[in-house]
Amino acid sequence: MTKFDVINPSTGEVIKTYAFTEEAEIHHKIERAYEAYLSWREVDAHERSRLLWQWSALIKENRDALAELITLEGGKPYQEALGEVDYAVGYVDWYAEEAKRIYGRTIPANSPDKKLLVDQFPVGVVGAITPWNFPAAMITRKMAPALAAGCTIVCKPATQTPMTTIRLVELAHEAGIPEDAISYILASGKTAGKIFTEHELIHKVTFTGSTPVGKKLIEQSAASVKNVTMELGGLAPLIVHKDADIEHAVEQTIKTKFRNAGQTCICANRIYVHEDIAEAYEKQLIEQVHALKVGDGMDKDVKIGPLINQKGVDKVLNHIQDAVEHGGQLSRELDDIQELGGNFLKPVVITNVNHDMKCMHEETFGPVAPVMRYSDIDEAIHLANDTEFGLASYFFTNDYRTGLYIYNNLHYGVVGWNDGAPSAPHAPFGGVKESGYGREGGIEGIEPYLETKYLSIGTKTE
Ligand code: SIN
Repeated sequence: MTKFDVINPSTGEVIKTYAFTEEAEIHHKIERAYEAYLSWREVDAHERSRLLWQWSALIKENRDALAELITLEGGKPYQEALGEVDYAVGYVDWYAEEAKRIYGRTIPANSPDKKLLVDQFPVGVVGAITPWNFPAAMITRKMAPALAAGCTIVCKPATQTPMTTIRLVELAHEAGIPEDAISYILASGKTAGKIFTEHELIHKVTFTGSTPVGKKLIEQSAASVKNVTMELGGLAPLIVHKDADIEHAVEQTIKTKFRNAGQTCICANRIYVHEDIAEAYEKQLIEQVHALKVGDGMDKDVKIGPLINQKGVDKVLNHIQDAVEHGGQLSRELDDIQELGGNFLKPVVITNVNHDMKCMHEETFGPVAPVMRYSDIDEAIHLANDTEFGLASYFFTNDYRTGLYIYNNLHYGVVGWNDGAPSAPHAPFGGVKESGYGREGGIEGIEPYLETKYLSIGTKTE
């Protein structure tokens, strides 16, 4: 039986060793999830809602312990991990309500002898693959709407951070949600992806992760035309226009850029600032970025934890070196950035940035804020859209006409206007272009777990 270690990215210590789920057992779990689906879909919406509320209550009771797990296995600072638990439980609460709001409709018929009805049904068994950067929230934002819709779900958490998922699933069972309605497997992404996309009893695959892996899953799903939701990579631009409130823009830039040490799909990856205010913005940004404390997330004052692993560190350093080679100026020396060693990198602002640099084209996934100056808003919008990605984008302006103009022209699924933290359980999250399709959160987030069925009744009896 092959095993894998869960490693604390702050200390390098092995926290736990798990055995990978045998392939035969994965198949068995899917079959059991299908059996569970046949009865779960018959449970009335109010009862499904009640069970979700019970799950929510248990997550809230275990808030501190769950946050500690997130910090231990993912390195996220403890205060931020508490925020993730709140964010995660927000999805359970939202879909506990939405379970009761899965409406159908009637259509006026074109004949007095007909009645036309539209109904919604659960898709079936869901296979979910989730990432390490939000081990609680990415789980609940798939599991809660799936269960609310009447689907059952088998989840494959990232092998870096399985402990939070396992605890969340245990709490769901304690809440009374049937064991096989919500289960997990421990497997590599490759194994789970292959089985989920090929298994005839998996009716839907939902994935959060990189665009290359998403493309592979879409390709594999094509053979059986499986229903898929893909929340893929991003390369979020952040535009600060000349009429922005600089203090606010700096505060919000830090919020989006340094969340989870820069390891989220919606972290601002590249910053465009109008030349008239660039000096003031860069000065304030550098001052505040250098004040962010870096260290083990269990230390309550820490704002930036470690990166997930050495591979993550290497990629970030490569982007920094590349920027320097292309004329970028670092706000702190390379030695200072790496001073703490291990998976820790001190946050850095890069100025004198141009579009030949990797950090303006590739997801950095780390605490690096490259700032490029622009003179014309159309140039900034053009650069912001000049990518295959379309997940999140941000802009700062206090003029409503400029704001609406930028909003209308940014080709992104999520847009923050004077707001660096747009994510919310009650709002639709998802991308366009190669950032994927389907939405999670909000009233839209339950739709991927439902099928529409149409009934036409002939009412003439004789
Ligand atoms: C992600 O990084 O994929 C999720 C970020 C969020 O939900 O805000």
